[in-house]
Amino acid sequence: MAKAAGTHTKKVRRRVSKKSGKTQFDKYDLYHKAVQSAENDVVFITNTYKELKKKAPRIFREDFCGTFALSTEWIKLNPKNLAIGVDLDPEPIAYGKSHYLSKMRPDQQKRMKVIEGNVMDPSLEKADIIAAMNFSYFCFKQRFLLKNYFANAYKTLNKDGIFLVDVFGGSQCYDAIEDRIKHKDFTYYWDQTNFDPISNEALFHIHFRVNGKKIERVFTYDWRLWSITEIREIMHEVGFSKSHVYWEGTAKDGSGDGNFTRVDHGEACESWIAYVVAEK
Ligand SMILES: C[S@@+](CC[C@H](N)C(=O)[O-])C[C@H]1O[C@@H](n2cnc3c(N)ncnc32)[C@H](O)[C@@H]1O
Repeated sequence: MAKAAGTHTKKVRRRVSKKSGKTQFDKYDLYHKAVQSAENDVVFITNTYKELKKKAPRIFREDFCGTFALSTEWIKLNPKNLAIGVDLDPEPIAYGKSHYLSKMRPDQQKRMKVIEGNVMDPSLEKADIIAAMNFSYFCFKQRFLLKNYFANAYKTLNKDGIFLVDVFGGSQCYDAIEDRIKHKDFTYYWDQTNFDPISNEALFHIHFRVNGKKIERVFTYDWRLWSITEIREIMHEVGFSKSHVYWEGTAKDGSGDGNFTRVDHGEACESWIAYVVAEK
């Protein structure tokens, strides 16, 4: 969510009102431009599967899919790829259908399935890869809930499947700060309102400034901050045979460079992002 400045750069399409010349307020489009890097993420995900399993993955399930931007990129990556998106909320699903799915070719649309449902559902369709991105599983604040979710991911993975989650941390994530990143047509704010060191719960918000007006709390995240160690322990407890950590490299200016490599040890820094990948 709080992808560090420079973590991923991508071209952005302007969404400008024909009448006023002003940028329209479209929260999912702004979110997409500010925090998502779906085109890069799917390349990393497919390469990681190939590296671990020595074969190509086909079925990708995006848990907590929201507007399922990642799934649509998965479909575009290979004509044999299939994707399943799962989210409880009909609003981002409807946005994804009208803004991404409808713009894909009919043969691509046929390979995409979107489910309005719960990631805890044991009857979800099986996949080669299950991904929970942008830290969505941080919504599970109790250990048994996170364990139940990981157990369901394990159960609904194909043999040879991998389960992939992203995670962030660093000393800065405990500070009450507001981070600001200026984009061409808008400003993105990452507001760390509160962190409770007793419960490890944190309250974060995304605000946007568009056309000179700051729109507060467009997205709110009420999370527990899980550590890589806790995540890996729970993955192994539910049956995963191995887990790996992919750590982001550092650019010259000290920010993340968008390249993730498998490591055994990280480095202490103010803000970091990593992937934890578990093998069935
Ligand atoms: C932070 S958004 C993530 C969107 C997207 N994955 C991304 O990469 O940006 C979290 C999403 O998780 C969904 N969600 C929360 N709990 C869920 C559950 N138990 N089952 C399915 N979706 C859930 C919410 O509706 C919301 O759309």
